[in-house]
Amino acid sequence: MPKSTTLPSRPHDIRPSTARSAGGKAPRPVLKWAGGKTHLLPRILERLPASIDTYYEPFIGGGAVFFALAADKRFSRAVLSDKNQDLIDVYRALRRGAKGVIQLLEHYEYDKDTYYAARALKPANLDLNERAARLIYLNRTGYNGLYRVNRSGQFNVPFGRYVNPTICDPERLRAASRALRGVSLEVADFSELCRDARAGDAVYFDPPYVPLSHTASFTAYHREAFGEEAHKRLAECFDALRSRGVCSVLSNSNTPLTRSLFDDFPLDLVPVPRRINSKKDGRGDVMEILVTTGKTRKPPKRTALRKSRKKRVS
Ligand SMILES: C[S@@+](CC[C@H](N)C(=O)[O-])C[C@H]1O[C@@H](n2cnc3c(N)ncnc32)[C@H](O)[C@@H]1O
Repeated sequence: MPKSTTLPSRPHDIRPSTARSAGGKAPRPVLKWAGGKTHLLPRILERLPASIDTYYEPFIGGGAVFFALAADKRFSRAVLSDKNQDLIDVYRALRRGAKGVIQLLEHYEYDKDTYYAARALKPANLDLNERAARLIYLNRTGYNGLYRVNRSGQFNVPFGRYVNPTICDPERLRAASRALRGVSLEVADFSELCRDARAGDAVYFDPPYVPLSHTASFTAYHREAFGEEAHKRLAECFDALRSRGVCSVLSNSNTPLTRSLFDDFPLDLVPVPRRINSKKDGRGDVMEILVTTGKTRKPPKRTALRKSRKKRVS
């Protein structure tokens, strides 16, 4: 498997994105991803500028925000990254073209034996299209669409029970492929990605969330958990971007730690349905925070948000 790459310093090796001229179906996420941003999406989009030079998203996950911005042609270039090599490989394969991935996915069937055989494959022994098709298949048919690896980095999510899951959606894959053309994709720590951002650019941060309670553990999307020290580094990075005039938006859980790390920034509380790994008896809405710096597309509706917060609390 290729090793993590170091980001090039400006000028980037990135070419103008073709997202602005992409025709056909609007791009949407191709993977289910814990922390997917469906519910917060409109609130994040209204906080980002209408026209962005370079859009950075250093915790790309399922990429809900990136694909929505691409659909609206709101950036000239995009730089996306994540610590997860398997995930970035899916986007790299699609950036090259959807055809090869689609051809492989069409041969995958929804049954337990196929699932465990695919799970046992080692990505290092596969080519890029094979790695991408395998991960998309495991994501569509594994338990809850989770991504989890053991200590040696081997995917270990059990088979999921679905009624006729969609394994291959060619139109969606082609649309994602068009949106990814010309986009820079890196396997990197978040801090590497934003060094080059400057006024006119925009960044959206969606880190693994700070757990809501002491009993909940910090999310281990990647083998190295994202702990308190990482959240502090992230707050420093956010501050540095503000001082360079970069418009940034960050979402996180509503905890004493996150509120204190960002108490110097405009911060809104927004209600969202609970995340997928919540206990059944605790389902319902939960508050999350949205922090912003710099100029936004239009002013956030703070009054409306406060009203909705009061309504939920009472
Ligand atoms: C909350 S998810 C992002 C969800 C995404 N916004 C979406 O719409 O699906 C967090 C992501 O951060 C990645 N991650 C964890 N630690 C990281 C780090 N130190 N640097 C960069 N990415 C990291 C995980 O692999 C995961 O994909």
